[in-house]
Amino acid sequence: MKRDYRDLLNPALQQIGVYKVEGGQEAEVKLNQNESPFDLPLWLKEKILGEFRDEPWNRYPDILPYRGMEAYASFLGVTPDSVVMSNGSNEMLYTIFLACLGAGSKVLIPQPSFSLYEKIALLLQAEVVEVPMLPELDFDVDAVIAAATSEKVDFIVLSTPNNPTGKSLSRADVERILDAVDAIVLVDEAYIEFSREESALGLIGRYPNLIVLRTMSKALALAGMRIGFAISNPALMAEITKPKIPFASGRLAEITLINVLENYSLVTEAVEFILGERRRLQQELAAIDGVRAFESDTNFLIIRVGDASKVFSSLKDAGVLVRNVSGYPLMENCLRFNVGLREENDRLLELLRKL
Ligand SMILES: Cc1ncc(COP(=O)(O)O)c(C=O)c1O
Repeated sequence: MKRDYRDLLNPALQQIGVYKVEGGQEAEVKLNQNESPFDLPLWLKEKILGEFRDEPWNRYPDILPYRGMEAYASFLGVTPDSVVMSNGSNEMLYTIFLACLGAGSKVLIPQPSFSLYEKIALLLQAEVVEVPMLPELDFDVDAVIAAATSEKVDFIVLSTPNNPTGKSLSRADVERILDAVDAIVLVDEAYIEFSREESALGLIGRYPNLIVLRTMSKALALAGMRIGFAISNPALMAEITKPKIPFASGRLAEITLINVLENYSLVTEAVEFILGERRRLQQELAAIDGVRAFESDTNFLIIRVGDASKVFSSLKDAGVLVRNVSGYPLMENCLRFNVGLREENDRLLELLRKL
């Protein structure tokens, strides 16, 4: 008799689920995926499309998107062989995990954090060492160092500022961790443009085991274009690149990135607006009975309410889509929403006041 097909699959599939966005991806006021509320202006889209039209669509793009990599390296002030561009930072996460982990390796992930880390680690049959955040959702740096040392972990993922808590590590704490541990350290800076803390990028020259991850999906408002980057010293980068899917970034993503970097004032202005609205939202939320807002270093806020499922559904029924993050450890009855346009934020505040 032949085996059941389920017995032929990666046994790790039994521990993971299909990626889902609760509540869907459509709403009148969509605040559930930490996106930018600002699309690119039409004139810039037209310019990008014009350049894309003149590309040979019948030809493969470069194995790695070298034009985009050169542009981003020059923007950051690092050498081009220190960066690799990917199809969203999610693709780079798979690549880095493939390069660093296998059956029997140990990965340390502070919890709660971005769910994809654990999913990829489990798929690769690595052992996950979880380190809980402190009750106010801040990183427990001492516990990270203690667990990394006692468990002899091979790989550490730090999302800072962290999704879904919104809290950051200081650069001094990142350095403290790097000094203390004997592991590859991945610092995911998806939300760094909104942070009060300094990036870990400046540490790359000093730590041969450090990888920084960036995405163009948040501050650069390019979630639909799928662009991410890893940055590390060139020797480590050459190793990380080995498992990467060839030709994963299309020509349009590269052209878009180059044009947005050339018009970076669009990004700075958007970030300034978002930071102003984050401050305003925080003040207004503090005045609402039954709502507790946490400090945030990102483009999203976390609030704790009496009954998160009920508030989530009432908001959704009123056309405002947020994320119910209550299922994460330490985040009971918490909701997450990104800063939107002024009128979108007002609508959310008004509904929360009524609820
Ligand atoms: C911490 C973190 N890393 C990575 C990503 C993935 O971003 P993308 O694949 O769009 O670059 C996200 C998206 O929400 C995130 O929150």
